[in-house]
Parts: sequence; structure tokens; C-alpha cells
Amino acid sequence: MKIIAIANHKGGCGKTTTAINLSACLGIKGQRVLLLDLDPQGHSSLGFGVFNEDARDLYDVFTGEVSIEEIILPGVFTGVDVVPATLTLAAAEHLPVRNEERDEQLRIHLQPIRERYDYAVIDCPPSTGLLSLNALAVADLVLIPVEMSLFGLSGIDHMYKTIALMRARHNRDIPIRLLPTLVDSRTRLCRQFLHEVGERFADDVSSVMVQSTVRLKEAVRQGAPIIAYDPTSTVAVQYNRLADELMLVLDAIPASGEDRERKSPIGQMKSAIENARAQLRKFSGEQKVTLRFYDLAGKDVRLAGSFNDWVPDQGVITRWADGVVEKNVMLMPGSYEYRLIIDGVWQEDPSNPEQVLNLSGGYNSILHVEEEHEEISV
Ligand SMILES: Nc1ncnc2c1ncn2[C@@H]1O[C@H](COP(=O)(O)OP(=O)(O)OP(=O)(O)O)[C@@H](O)[C@H]1O
Ligand SMILES: [Mg+2]
Repeated sequence: MKIIAIANHKGGCGKTTTAINLSACLGIKGQRVLLLDLDPQGHSSLGFGVFNEDARDLYDVFTGEVSIEEIILPGVFTGVDVVPATLTLAAAEHLPVRNEERDEQLRIHLQPIRERYDYAVIDCPPSTGLLSLNALAVADLVLIPVEMSLFGLSGIDHMYKTIALMRARHNRDIPIRLLPTLVDSRTRLCRQFLHEVGERFADDVSSVMVQSTVRLKEAVRQGAPIIAYDPTSTVAVQYNRLADELMLVLDAIPASGEDRERKSPIGQMKSAIENARAQLRKFSGEQKVTLRFYDLAGKDVRLAGSFNDWVPDQGVITRWADGVVEKNVMLMPGSYEYRLIIDGVWQEDPSNPEQVLNLSGGYNSILHVEEEHEEISV
């Protein structure tokens, strides 16, 4: 069993939404998944329409009243079982346990069911209390959803510090993936945040981001994950890709329950993650395409095209270097039309002679992405 802890002490950044939808996507892929709700708010079971305020939860397991097997709600969705949470779980933060075992409770209780599941997904509460520490201590990977809003980035450094302490305490690496959530790339602020996250945490940022959409709220209200409620929506595709990415990354890492001797040093871990990413790109057929624009320093340059529903900079990572504006986008092989928006003015790409007339009487530039071509410069 590989364990993904979804954590961020900042509230409302999409932890529970991600836990529900990631679990469902892994389940649909034929994986055996256990979703553990560690938040006394109990929203994870709500997302599968199975919330019961009288249910037994991990508090009863930690006090030794019942075993974890006894509280599992089986088959809440294809391949997914749930360990529910209720308000009682809040008391688990104050259980009298020996200091050296404070954050080991979850590991101990998960041990007997490790073989029954391929993945455990843990929905952490919005705090770095004992419950979250238990999740980090047993995690093979920590997924940090980061809301792309004004205060979204403020908690990340604190999360990194907490994880660094856990790494030192347990003498093992705990890889981190940052997942941009509630992304609305139409707003300038959101694009700035995406840029900042890319610059500051480059290697740790997931290649997937989750856009902001009311469809997710509607799905929760129906007690269904988005992959069942609206399987063709963009956000269903995004969570599906996240599941693919995490499966590949985790495949390259020995589980925390496995022999300590097999643990890779951090450097090896990073290259394993890089390999997994490259494989993912090959697997999905998508390639990273880089468009470079010169002499546009100081200008606000955005990219919109048939590949991002003509929403400026949606799904585009921008980098600036020495007066060159670089636009990076993941694309399948094929031909695409695009335009640039320079300081708010839509126009064809002046450096690309290949153009077609568009419906409004202007010109769209044409971009060809061929198989195996790593980079395209125009
Ligand atoms: N991508 C999204 N688009 C639109 N709304 C979203 C998205 N992700 C989450 N939400 C909404 O934002 C709110 C907070 O999301 P969620 O409960 O998943 O966050 P959380 O981090 O688990 O919060 P808490 O810290 O309170 O546990 C919810 O109402 C949810 O429906
Ligand atoms: Mg939550």
C-alpha cells in the first residue's frame, strides 16, 4: 500500500475535494483505494454520500475500542472504501500516548490492512496537530493543494518546515507534490501566483492544476465524485491526470512500510520523480512545447489558442529570462491556432509567418506539434 497524505494547514484550499476525486480516479483505474478521513468535519464521506454522524471513526480505533477493519465503509465507489470521520475525532488530538509514539498511531493501526489496498489517500484537517502529524509520519508522498489566491501561498513554507521536521525525526525522505487548485487563469493575480509557485517550488509542482469550477461543488452536493457526475468535464480530466502522475511517481518510490535499507537518498528520489514525469508525458502523448518571444520585455504577453479554449494563459506556464518571454504548454501532436495578447491587444504572432484568416477578419497563427519533437521555437 502506498500512502498519499493530502495536507495543508490552510483551510479551504481543496484538500477534501482532491481526496475524494483522486480516490475515485484511482478506483476507476482498477486500484484498491482506502480513503481515510482525518478531519472531524467528516466531509470526505459526505462527498461519497455516506456521511453518518454516529459512525465510529479513528478515535475509537486509537483508543483500542475497535479495530480499523471494523470501521471501514466498503465500496462507497468503484474500488474505494472509506474510513469515515465524525466530530468525535477531534478528541484524538488530546489522547494520552507516550511521546515517542505520538505520531505513530496511524502507522500501527494501518499495518494489518496494508496488503488489502494499493493506495491509501488521507484527507488531513486544516491544522498541523497530532492527526496531521500521524498522516505525515506514515505518508509515502505529501500532496499539498495550494489555492491560487491572495493568501494561498502563505502557508506553504510552514508545511515545508513541518515536513522537514518529520523527515529528520523518521530519518527518511517524504516527497512533496504541490497541486495548484481553484485556478482561474483569466485573472492576472492567479497567473502571477502560478508563476510564483513555478519559480519557487519548480521541481515539486505537479504538472497538473485544478481549475475553479462550480461543477465540483455540484458533484459534492450529489454525493458523487466528478468522474461520475461529469466525466468529460475539464476538471474530471485534470483529476484523472493527477491520479496518473501520482501512480507513476509512487511507483518509483519504495513504500514507507518497506525495508528501510531500500530507501533512496533524496537525489535519487528526485531523479525518479523526473523519470516518472517524462514517462507520463510519453504515456499521455503530450509534449512540452516552448514558444519563445523576443523583444517583448516589460510587456504583458499572454497566449490563447485552440488548445486552451482561447482563455489567455490557461494551462500555460510563463518564464521570463533576459528579455525573452517563454510560454510553456503541454500539447498532443497536432496543429493548433493561437493568438498573442500583448498589453491587452489580441494579435497574430509577428514572428510566425504561417497564419489563417479567422472569423473576425484577423489572422490566427498556426502551431504544429509533431511526434517526438521536444521543443518548438517560433
Ligand atoms: N477546483 C475547485 N473549484 C471550485 N470550488 C472548489 C474547488 N476545489 C474546492 N472547491 C470548493 O472550495 C471549498 C473548500 O474546498 P475543500 O473542502 O476541498 O477544502 P479543504 O482544504 O478540504 O477545506 P478544510 O481546510 O476546511 O478541510 C468547498 O466548498 C469546495 O466545494
Ligand atoms: Mg477538508
